[in-house]
Order: sequence, then structure tokens, then C-alpha cells
Amino acid sequence: MKPFWIEPASSIKGEIILPSDKSISHRAVFISSIAKNKTKVENFSLSKDCLYTLQAFKKLKVKIVRNKNTLTIYGKGLKGLKKPEGSLFLGDSGTTIRLLCGVLVGQNFSTTLKAGPSLSQRPMRRVLEPLRMMGADIDSLNKKENEEYPPLLIKPVRKLKSIDYTLPVASAQVKSAILLAGLFADGITTVREPIKTRDHTERLLYQCGVDIQIKKEKISVRGSKVLKTAGYIFIPGDFSSASFFIAATILLRDSSLLIKDVGLNPTRLGLIEVLKRMGANIELNYKIPDKDFHEPWGDIFVRSSALKGVRITKDEIPLLIDELPILMVISCFAEGKTIIESVEELRVKETDRINSMVEGLSSMGAKISVEKKDHREDLVIESVGYLKPAKLKTFGDHRTAMSLVIAGLLAKGKSLIDDISCVDKSFPNFLNILKKVVRSQ
Ligand code: S3P
Repeated sequence: MKPFWIEPASSIKGEIILPSDKSISHRAVFISSIAKNKTKVENFSLSKDCLYTLQAFKKLKVKIVRNKNTLTIYGKGLKGLKKPEGSLFLGDSGTTIRLLCGVLVGQNFSTTLKAGPSLSQRPMRRVLEPLRMMGADIDSLNKKENEEYPPLLIKPVRKLKSIDYTLPVASAQVKSAILLAGLFADGITTVREPIKTRDHTERLLYQCGVDIQIKKEKISVRGSKVLKTAGYIFIPGDFSSASFFIAATILLRDSSLLIKDVGLNPTRLGLIEVLKRMGANIELNYKIPDKDFHEPWGDIFVRSSALKGVRITKDEIPLLIDELPILMVISCFAEGKTIIESVEELRVKETDRINSMVEGLSSMGAKISVEKKDHREDLVIESVGYLKPAKLKTFGDHRTAMSLVIAGLLAKGKSLIDDISCVDKSFPNFLNILKKVVRSQ
């Protein structure tokens, strides 16, 4: 536990470069490890989660040389991973465990996947079920009341079959696991998404020469014998990390910030769309445009803005799923009422983020409530004009912690957060970068 006092800020000014995208970093290691030959990955994320992915593939006997945040990955080919000594421990990284399921069901050895305390309580059936339909032998060693949790045991099977699968919940992790498993299957594997989610896996597979067809929310991959290397992968800054700085700049007076070299993949930019609708002053300047199914990236320039409340619909949620905690903070300052529909997936993130954020913001005087209808949960947030200082709990969740730090900058007095160490999961340098641009009162 590392407590941290948050002082109210007066403004934000300057220029920053943020650590690289976590989602793309995971996929760069996954796909380059099972591709043939060498891949150079530049600007790899050194967040805890991504280091778990790196360590897992090293244990699966892939040679990966790291020099600061540049990796050279000597890919083993689709079926070339080797049985690790003992089990694989994946910390609390959901992306690592779920995508690994998709890759390991195609190998010819057994593996046990173990998880840390928070990931051990996150649902795995959503990924196990479709993989079992493909013929995979994958089981949970911890089953409880209609759900399955880590540890997971994966055993080799002779063959995987392709499936045509409609995801019951919009999830990029589950989609990616099925697409990766589809590489090992005979024929064409199709995933249908209820709502479009981040498409980093599809883009990288395409760069590796995979026969992948995308028609809106329907994605199909053809099983292959070889996967070519992408050769070189550059990973831009993480938009999800940028979101905290965007929020603080918009909400503080006389502020402006240039955030350089950030990933601008449209499946990640739901927050930008919503903020523009709220009246925010944001410009995107592309350095690499969204062309030829490469990852686009560029600079974001943001300024203080007066916001008005809006309705955010169910279809927009997957495009800003990780930005919902900071959007809750932003909504407290948007004139009138903001309604965020269908946020129930937040219950199964690193912590229950509806609970952590409603508790934290309510203790600061926010007007935030949850409306439940069957399985759906909508958030209703009314403008309060200012937040009170408070003692805040992160519940060990990095995005709750960073969102509450931003709320603390906007409060009328010093707030205390119980544990800031959890930010290392995605953004180890968060406080240092924040200190560089924040001017205190
Ligand atoms: C991620 C997908 C999302 C997101 C997570 C990263 C990914 O999870 O919340 O932080 O890299 O594919 P779900 O697939 O569970 O929605």
C-alpha cells in the first residue's frame, strides 16, 4: 500500500509523450512469437501487464532480446512454442491470460495458467466456451456458480475445427483469442461482434499476411500453416493513458496540452467523439493516417473547455470501455445531466469499477447513481460544479486510481488516496509526467 496526497491544481500546460499502448504491445509479442523469423518491436510498453506477456513467451522458449523498450523477437512459427518449466504465472493481466488461451490450444503440450488475486476472480467462461466448440481441451481448476476462473489447464488436441461464433458480450480479448485459435484450425473461423471492439489483433494479423476478411462486425480468418513476420512494429502512445491528461486539461482553467505520438485507432477513440459532443476543444493531427490497415497515430492538442451533459449509448461503450472511469469524473463537471448507458461490463474489470468510482466520487460530493434494468446498468451523473476533498480508495485498480487522482486535482482541498502503487499495471510513470505539467494552486 502506497498512500498519496493529491493537491488541487490550478492549470495544466505543456507537452508530453506517454508510454506506449498496452493492447498493441501485448499483441506485438503474441503474434511475433508465433510468426516465422525475426521481428523488431519498437517502443514496447514496460507496464506490469505487458512484462507478464513478455515473460510468458520467454518461458515458452521464444528468444526475445530486450534493450530498454525495443524488442527483437525470434519467432518460432505457429506450432513452435515449447512446454514451459512449471506453470505460467500471469499476474493480473486479463489480456495475457485470455489471448494465451487462443495460442496455447494450438500447441502440442499441456500448460497451466495461474493468475494473481484480482485476475483469479475474473470470468473466463466467455473465452473457454468458444475454444471448446473448436475442439480445444481447456478447463478451469476453479469453477463456481455458473462461472469459471483461473487457474486454467490446457491440454493438446490433434486438431481444432473452425467455428462461426457470435460473441454474447462485446470483448476484444475474447474476439482475439478466437481469431488466434482460428490460425490453428482447418477452414475459416468467423467471429461476429454484437458491437465493434478494438481491432488491433486484426490489423497486426493482416500485416503478417493472414487471410482475414472484415465486414463491419463480422471477422473471418483462414487457418494457416505459416504466419509471416510483420518485420517491424512501432507502438504508439497509449490513448487510454492520454485520457487522464485530456480530462484534466479540459476541466482545469487556462490549460492547454500537446500529447505527442498517441495511437489514434478509431476503435479506441470513443472518448474523443463523446467529448466533442460535450463541447470539448480537441484537435487530432495524424502523423500516420488510418490507411492500409496500419495502426494510425499522431498528436492530440487539447484546451480548457466548458462541457454540457450528453447521453452515451450502448453502442459507444466498447469504444471507450477503459475510459469510463475518467468519463465519470468529467461528467461531474458537464452542465446538466450525463447518462451513460449499459456500463455493466465494468463490474468484471480489475475491480468492480462501478462500485469503486461511485464510492469515490460520491464521497467527493458527486451526484452519481446507477439505474438497473434487467442485466443492464446505466449511470446517471449530474453536474455539481465542484468536488470536495476526501479520503479515497483505489481497490487496487489502476484506472480507478488515476481517475481519482484527476478528480483530486479538481477538488477544493487536499485528498488522500489509499494506494497509488497499482498504477504500475498500465502506467508506471503516471505521477512523474503529471507533476511535469500540473501547476498547483
Ligand atoms: C483489451 C480489451 C478490453 C479492455 C482491456 C484491454 C484488449 O477488455 O478493457 O483493458 O487489449 O483486448 P475486454 O475484452 O474484456 O472488454
